[in-house]
Amino acid sequence: MLGIIGGSGLSQLANLEALQRRVVRTPYGEPSGPLTLGCIRGRQVVFLARHGNGHTIAPHEVNYRANLWALRAENVRAVVSVASVGGIRRDLRPGTIVIPDQIIDYTWGRAASFFQGAGEQVAHIDFTHPFTRDLRVRLLDAVRAAGESAGDGGVYAATQGPRLETAAEINRLERDGADVVGMTGMPEAALARELGLEYAAIAVVANHAAGRGESEQGIALARIEDVLGEAMGRVRRIIDHLAEQ
Ligand code: HPA
Repeated sequence: MLGIIGGSGLSQLANLEALQRRVVRTPYGEPSGPLTLGCIRGRQVVFLARHGNGHTIAPHEVNYRANLWALRAENVRAVVSVASVGGIRRDLRPGTIVIPDQIIDYTWGRAASFFQGAGEQVAHIDFTHPFTRDLRVRLLDAVRAAGESAGDGGVYAATQGPRLETAAEINRLERDGADVVGMTGMPEAALARELGLEYAAIAVVANHAAGRGESEQGIALARIEDVLGEAMGRVRRIIDHLAEQ
């Protein structure tokens, strides 16, 4: 079954016929909220708002382990993350959608593995390709079927937040090879891999990253909501087609 984790700007899926809300308890504590079990175009999907229903959970405070555990407990096998990002590459203007294919992790202090704690077996996952190839291809097919466009590939830099970056930090991320920057891609992607879940992301550029383009003098936070509001209509159409495949 398909699971969708909605980020900023997507705390509800208007196209989801909600059949049930389910509170799931996990050995890792509480997920960000109840899971919504429902149907899109006749297909069962599970939706979870990453930052909680009232957008009250900051990126560094999200219980990523509980979220992924809960989705798997509801028979989710493929997770699509919707995440807002800053565009580092100059052509990635606000409103652009990217389906990233790589990640660099700059986060710290997050519970980043199921294999930690007393008595846990140590295990190492292969993470060469952090996003599942097949699910990325399906997503890109859904983008085309929806008549939308999206960048195929890109390096997602996961920063700690909740503050945005400095211009110098963005310059450094660019030198490292990053195309977009967000705060939630890790440890989410790694935890999905640890659980054997397929995982891919729809990254929506909310703003030029700090010091770039329109954000040269600062990031206009008030504009972000409008950009995401418009883009999420397109994201929903993509998800409709993905569910239908
Ligand atoms: N940086 C980090 N995360 C983000 C940004 C950004 O500029 N925009 C949206 N999420």
